[in-house]
Amino acid sequence: MTILVTGGAGFIGSNFIFFMLENHPEDRIVCLDKLTYAGNLSTLKDVMDDPNFRFVKLDICDREGVYKLFEEEKPDVVVNFAAESHVDRSIENPEVFLQTNILGTQVLMDACRKYGIQRFHQVGTDEVYGDLPLDRPDLFFTETTPIHASSPYSASKASADLLVLAYHRTFGLPVTISRCSNNYGPYQFPEKLIPLMIANALNDKPLPVYGKGENVRDWLYVEDHCKAIDRILREGRDGEVYNIGGHNEMRNIDIVKLICKTLGKPESLITYVTDRKGHDMRYAIDPAKIHSELGWLPETKFADGIRKTIQWYLDHKTWWEEIISGDYQNYYQRMYGNR
Ligand code: NAD
Ligand code: DAU
Repeated sequence: MTILVTGGAGFIGSNFIFFMLENHPEDRIVCLDKLTYAGNLSTLKDVMDDPNFRFVKLDICDREGVYKLFEEEKPDVVVNFAAESHVDRSIENPEVFLQTNILGTQVLMDACRKYGIQRFHQVGTDEVYGDLPLDRPDLFFTETTPIHASSPYSASKASADLLVLAYHRTFGLPVTISRCSNNYGPYQFPEKLIPLMIANALNDKPLPVYGKGENVRDWLYVEDHCKAIDRILREGRDGEVYNIGGHNEMRNIDIVKLICKTLGKPESLITYVTDRKGHDMRYAIDPAKIHSELGWLPETKFADGIRKTIQWYLDHKTWWEEIISGDYQNYYQRMYGNR
């Protein structure tokens, strides 16, 4: 089948493309990506010449361009990773989040309706559930937890999820949604916690921990996320939401200390800075549904995943040094300069 992967030049989308090309040589992958600041064509350089792969530079909000691509490629399945994905940027400038994350999703689904599709899969986030209190370790997000978004980013992702379910009910579009917890692994843009701390530590720069560093995230190795999506595409039920998570809760401060220890850097680099506005305290996924229905379980232990990830950033300095030497410097100054 032909699978259209949007946002495939970003972190999770690129890892998904690598996984699919390796594990499903019978499928053809078409990657559509606008190449925003977060999209990096060099990430895809090893698959550019693969006969089962095509890259198209396109904005998911460009209706005419998207329809033309559907006419050319007639995809059987669409997996929508394309999004503005960074919470801090959504606090700085929400508008592009609403355009890409909501309206872009609508354009893709309109194309699916017009040209026919076996499945539209929306890559969602656990952030749509809001947060959990630190003193209730017994609570987890299930698929029936009410939507309760905190940031413009999570509100835009929640809106997209609602629209996807509305297209299923109203137009009968065959859809699935996955809501995953925090990913880590190769090719993550160094504005996110783990790669930012690795890059700063390697450059002996301060490690900016928001607030007291007590916020908890449920970390999942990116390849496990890709496997879960693949499983949903093949065996998931239309109209269903599947939570994906690793039962791997960690406090931010403990992650940062672990990175210091692994790299042999002093904890004195850690600098507590002004907290993120509206900062969610704790995310924790209950993955019972995807486990019982589709047999998916995370395979990578955090100790192994973080070691592999740190090694990847050590081995691929050019990849992230090129990023942080460009416009990223202006972003970093805006975000952290007066914090
Ligand atoms: P990312 O920011 O690394 O990549 C996003 C990609 O989308 C980039 O390649 C970018 O160029 C592309 N893009 C942005 N706007 C576009 C547009 N208008 N048209 C076409 N392409 C566009 O993001 P990521 O971390 O890989 O996240 C991918 C998806 O997974 C997002 O939908 C995000 O909400 C979701 N998600 C991420 C995580 C996580 O921990 N990173 C967890 C759960 C869900
Ligand atoms: O839960 C899934 C979500 O995980 C995805 O939907 C988002 O796309 C993804 O960016 C991620 O969101 P977070 O806000 O949890 O990730 P981030 O890496 O930005 O931050 C992780 C935690 O670390 C959070 O509590 C904020 C904190 N933090 C982050 C940065 C960048 C710091 O303390 N200092 C920092 O410099």
